[in-house]
Amino acid sequence: MPAPEAVVFDAYGTLLDVNAAMAAQAVRLGDRWPLLSSEWRAKQLEYSWVRSLTGAAHYENFWLCTRDALAFVFANHGIDDAPLQKELMQAYSTLPAYPEVPAMLRALRGGGITTAILSNGTPGMLADAVAAAGIETLLDEILSVESVAVFKPDPRVYRLATRQFGCAPDDLVFVSGNAWDAQAALAFGMRVVRVNRTGAPDEYGLAEAGVPELRDLAGLPGLLA
Ligand code: LAC
Repeated sequence: MPAPEAVVFDAYGTLLDVNAAMAAQAVRLGDRWPLLSSEWRAKQLEYSWVRSLTGAAHYENFWLCTRDALAFVFANHGIDDAPLQKELMQAYSTLPAYPEVPAMLRALRGGGITTAILSNGTPGMLADAVAAAGIETLLDEILSVESVAVFKPDPRVYRLATRQFGCAPDDLVFVSGNAWDAQAALAFGMRVVRVNRTGAPDEYGLAEAGVPELRDLAGLPGLLA
């Protein structure tokens, strides 16, 4: 691969462990915590998509989508515990990075590569998260959808990155743990790397399109070298 203008990362589920908030409450939530966590994520994304597709008047930021999704999951499972709900939201604002992330970002920066986040998260959520994860000094830019008030996979979101770096889409490498996000960046014309931590089946024909897949981010600097 020719050297990219920048490597642009999705945040939640790519750099930040979205299951960590519920995992930390496993004792209170019991064995069902992984199910609750995946339902929370699925509803959060569903709300973001519906609020994008129904038009600008219905936009509600990602923090509110996340809060409403958690309220639904609690109601759906008959969990009546407002303090726990509040604690989970607090934990969501300080999710840890996956273990290999700091060294991977350091390796990219050491190789002279610019690093960035492009995320649905609000600027506040992202600032808190990267500070808590200890990776704020390893990122050159943090781009939030807030400025366009629409969520991924709308192309206006991916355009924020080409505008920021003043380059063509294929001058950027976009890295995502979400197949749908990888598909959208590919459709926008970016070079894409998919992270597939769970070994989920291929989606959107990403493999056939030649999108490299990594099990975690440790191999990214080598892939781009
Ligand atoms: C994000 C979500 C999609 O960070 O994971 O944009």
